[in-house]
Amino acid sequence: MYNFDKLPDRTKVSSLKWMYDGCLPMWVADMDFDTPDFIKESIIERVKLGAFGYTNTPKEYFISFKNFLKRRHHVDIDIESMIFSTGVVPAISSIVRKLTSLHDKIMVITPTYNIFFNSILNNKRIPIESDLYFENKQYKLDFIDFENKIKDGVKMLILCNPQNPVGKIWSKEELCKIAKICLENNVIVLSDEIHSDIVTPNKEYNSSLLITELKDNLITLVSASKCFNLAGLQGSLVIVQNEKLRALVNRGLNTDEVAEGNAFVYNAFISALDGGDKWLDEMNAYVYNNKKYLKDFIDKNIKEFKYEIQDALYLAWVDIRELTEDAYDFCEFLKDYAKVYFSYGEEYGKSFKGFIRINLATSLENVKEGLNRLLYGIEQYKLKKRS
Ligand SMILES: Cc1ncc(COP(=O)(O)O)c(C=O)c1O
Repeated sequence: MYNFDKLPDRTKVSSLKWMYDGCLPMWVADMDFDTPDFIKESIIERVKLGAFGYTNTPKEYFISFKNFLKRRHHVDIDIESMIFSTGVVPAISSIVRKLTSLHDKIMVITPTYNIFFNSILNNKRIPIESDLYFENKQYKLDFIDFENKIKDGVKMLILCNPQNPVGKIWSKEELCKIAKICLENNVIVLSDEIHSDIVTPNKEYNSSLLITELKDNLITLVSASKCFNLAGLQGSLVIVQNEKLRALVNRGLNTDEVAEGNAFVYNAFISALDGGDKWLDEMNAYVYNNKKYLKDFIDKNIKEFKYEIQDALYLAWVDIRELTEDAYDFCEFLKDYAKVYFSYGEEYGKSFKGFIRINLATSLENVKEGLNRLLYGIEQYKLKKRS
């Protein structure tokens, strides 16, 4: 068994997550768990060789992804359809630039990963939001709103599967409906599947790659970075099955200089993808236990909060509207006065000001500590509001 209770101390290594002094960070999607030895050793082996010059992407990188996707997601993809990129976000921004034009409309289903807005707005495209709604403990897409907006000149959909921040795994049926609407309206689907391996034990994940009708209009982005916490090594995989589309995407990634990896990323990703199944399964079980702890804690102690465990992510999306409609103000208050930090909802879509996102990829001890600080912070926040 791997040990997820014992964490490396990241306070002295310029960790983005741990940058707020003395504050327990439960915000950015980054795990605190120790990297398993077999991944560390693959990097050390490369360090021992020395000579860290330019590095081509080895064929083994693509083969490891192919085998991993076959084993875990039941899709069989030709390695010819695969391109390396230095990250999912660099790939998204590049693809937005290459496949759409200035002022084009790009659809996102909200709440969604905040950086999608940067990739759209920084490139002077227009984000169009279609909000999820919550019913019977599930997040659902309003297909009428979605289709109406798609029909109004949208050129690309940036799908998040599973959906960060809510934790929804899109069902095959939903993916087929989305595909049909996008195909009918000539909309490219860019599916960000970076979180696809962080799922509740025994839950099936549905990749966009299962939707064969979509094959020629689809670009899928995956990585070992989120599920094995290797994001600092900067790698991802862009899958484009249509040859013409692939040539365009490839050109864009090369023009933007985001198609070449560093000397360590390949060894680390290959070892994780080839040998990481056991670690991943145990990590998912550990995170699920943290989610259950959070659920019990909220139900018992915080009557103003609503939370239901969803099928994916190590992130929890919590409705705090009975306490406040201004989660930004609340999160900043907690950071300063209770020394715990969460992400606030408005970052993920303008309709979600009354939500917070809690990162549970840490030890149970930290989760307990973070929630005790939260409880203290809520009391202080109420006192401040009353005064
Ligand atoms: C949905 C989603 N996509 C992409 C990223 C970042 O990807 P990368 O580090 O490969 O650029 C994140 C990080 O939180 C994410 O949540």
